[in-house]
Amino acid sequence: MTDYVRVCETGEIPNGSHRAFDVGDISVLILRVNREFHAVRNRCTHLDFPLEGGRQMGCEIICRKHGARFDTSNGRALTGPAVDRLAVYPTRIVEGWIEVAVPRPAAD
Ligand code: FES
Repeated sequence: MTDYVRVCETGEIPNGSHRAFDVGDISVLILRVNREFHAVRNRCTHLDFPLEGGRQMGCEIICRKHGARFDTSNGRALTGPAVDRLAVYPTRIVEGWIEVAVPRPAAD
């Protein structure tokens, strides 16, 4: 199950930049690419380093630790040392707010 969670107003993330937010138990990195917002897990799949603060080039983010590069439109690792994809979360804009859908923890 997923729920959309209201995270921030669109104006809080200027074009070409990104910010991390805690959404439930997940640190989510939201990037603005022109009029689109991409949301991915804020952890490099190489050694779990936070991606926030990495160099952003369009929809790509570069990990500051060892330079792995990811396409945030689909989560693909474009260069090593990372191999695995980033988790990608759906986004939507509602009345000027960015909302992100993250998986809900399974009930016991
Ligand atoms: S921790 Fe990101 S490239 Fe190594």
